[in-house]
Amino acid sequence: MGRSIGIISIKGGVGKTTTTLNLGATLSHKFGKEVLIVDSNFTAPNLALHLGIVKPEATLHDVLRGDADVTKAILKYEEGLYILPSSLMHKRVNPLRLKRVIDTIKKSFDFILLDSSPNLNEEMLATMIAADELFVVTTPDYPTLSTTMRAIKLAKDKGTPINGLILNKVRGKNFELSIEDIEDAAEVPVLAVLPDDVGFLHSLSELRPHTLMNLNADSTVEFNHLAASLVNEEYQDTRFKTKVKRLFGSTDKTTKQGFNRTVFKDSRFSRTK
Ligand SMILES: Nc1ncnc2c1ncn2[C@@H]1O[C@H](COP(=O)(O)OP(=O)(O)OP(=O)(O)O)[C@@H](O)[C@H]1O
Ligand SMILES: [Mg+2]
Repeated sequence: MGRSIGIISIKGGVGKTTTTLNLGATLSHKFGKEVLIVDSNFTAPNLALHLGIVKPEATLHDVLRGDADVTKAILKYEEGLYILPSSLMHKRVNPLRLKRVIDTIKKSFDFILLDSSPNLNEEMLATMIAADELFVVTTPDYPTLSTTMRAIKLAKDKGTPINGLILNKVRGKNFELSIEDIEDAAEVPVLAVLPDDVGFLHSLSELRPHTLMNLNADSTVEFNHLAASLVNEEYQDTRFKTKVKRLFGSTDKTTKQGFNRTVFKDSRFSRTK
């Protein structure tokens, strides 16, 4: 049975779609998993546009309305990576039917990643309910942190386990909130720290996931580490600069997020043995 993972935040533009696409691409391309990425941002869908899909024949909206079979709406991007797009033309749907749809296709994939809407209504609830586990995406500033804490509370109330936070668009400035500040407030571990990287914007213009295009970027390597922790595999960053850092004792595990990933992996996979 595959795992459905919701990518959520209550704030727009923090990086949910970017995370869904790039984590999905890494899981399939680098770790050989069968992955479906789902656009569950019903009012403002754009996941498919990132891959150059503008007007799919059938969409998740059609499936939820009972107008199309889900297998008709799933498109293959490349080997191991599939997408279930939503409709840009707003057809009225009941988002809460999402769980039923996801449950029927779970056995066909290793991972189903759900790109949530930021709207604190039935749209986001639908993702929380359909997901077995969640990542909350945040950025290192107070306004976003406050919405992140609300999202965490809501997920806890709904009983969907939170794997951790994905801290995105980090510029390394001293006015930014630190990982420790964020973890203290949110009481959830940070499992990935993604730098602000213009490569994401470049990949948008190429209609190709950043992690498949910019293989040596720090942000790609961070997605690889995160994916490895989800599949219980070791991932070795073989870039020259990392090898040099390793000589001086600096490894992924010496970073806070790397340590957190090890704890996450150990707790998850010793539990399910
Ligand atoms: N780490 C990053 N560095 C630079 N740009 C980024 C990064 N992450 C995301 N972006 C850019 O920020 C913009 C918003 O990202 P994205 O669409 O993933 O956010 P979102 O949370 O899905 O937004 P919404 O809530 O509106 O759906 C996009 O143009 C994306 O390319
Ligand atoms: Mg989005």
